Amino acid sequence: MNKIIKKEVVGEKIKKIEVEAPLIAKKALPGQFIVLRVDEKGERIPLTIAGKDSEKGTITLIFQEVGTTTTKLGLLNEGEEILNLVGPLGKTVEIEKYGNVCIVVGGVGAAFVYWMAKAFKEKDNYIITIMGARNEKLLILEDQMREISDELLVATDDGSKGIKGFTTDVLESVINSGKKIDYVLTAGPIIMMKKVSDITKIYNIKTVASLNPIMIDGTGMCGGCRITVGGKVKFACVDGPDFDAHLVDFGELLKRTSLYKTYEEESLKRFLHRCKIGLDR
Ligand code: FAD
Ligand code: FES
Ligand code: MG
Repeated sequence: MNKIIKKEVVGEKIKKIEVEAPLIAKKALPGQFIVLRVDEKGERIPLTIAGKDSEKGTITLIFQEVGTTTTKLGLLNEGEEILNLVGPLGKTVEIEKYGNVCIVVGGVGAAFVYWMAKAFKEKDNYIITIMGARNEKLLILEDQMREISDELLVATDDGSKGIKGFTTDVLESVINSGKKIDYVLTAGPIIMMKKVSDITKIYNIKTVASLNPIMIDGTGMCGGCRITVGGKVKFACVDGPDFDAHLVDFGELLKRTSLYKTYEEESLKRFLHRCKIGLDR
């Protein structure tokens, strides 16, 4: 059991929790993730470790409520417990001094890379962050990203904050302004990561995408997170989740992550109904 020490709302349907997990906090590195189960009836879901406090023995998780499990997790309050957490899982990327590093994130993608971005800044890279969301309310971690960025640019689909448009429009204009970009790290919707990758391929800029396939065990056993990178089969949980974006088969990733959409929608409907009639939280 892992107790929630602190809980904050950081955006519309986006929560940040600090959870007791001393062994994970001891070992975790930027880019790694955990797999959790909220309760005995619960499925396993992966969430990125967004930070840690080794002294206190806690890790931070930031998540968007998109379906049954994340909604259930969001209903837990400070002092309540998550059934179990497994981790740290996955590999961390090499964090070196590259020069000008551009972080391109959409929606909850900021939670995937916040800790990595911070580590890039600590290695003295010049950080240009491009953040995007459908609207201002869905932008998360803006203040935290600003703190570790030399430049922060915002794009929203409806123009409620920053420029009206997409992160990829901003990326193109940064590149076209003549600024040399040495490394791009991207996370968020698969379509956005693909477009980022298509743009940076033209300019031959090293690009790493933090991928989000369906994961179950998180240890390379179930095959749920199978992806194709450079024509080779990889398991994102043990070989990633961060990969050379120019080699990723994004089309396959998109197809595989939407395989269970009907079941997921049904499950959320049932869960919300059970909450309404008092059979669940
Ligand atoms: P559902 O309604 O069941 O699913 C909604 C969508 O979430 C699905 O269509 C699918 O695309 C995805 N999804 C569903 N089940 C899984 C699963 N077992 N594994 C992966 N994706 C799934 N989200 C965050 O908000 N914050 C994070 O820090 C974060 N880190 C992640 C790190 C990794 C390595 C991966 C692979 C995913 C991460 N995610 C993160 C995504 C998160 O795991 C899903 O949003 C969550 O599993 C959805 O579960 P649900 O039951 O609430 O929604
Ligand atoms: Fe099972 Fe990666 S999550 S193999
Ligand atoms: Mg689910």
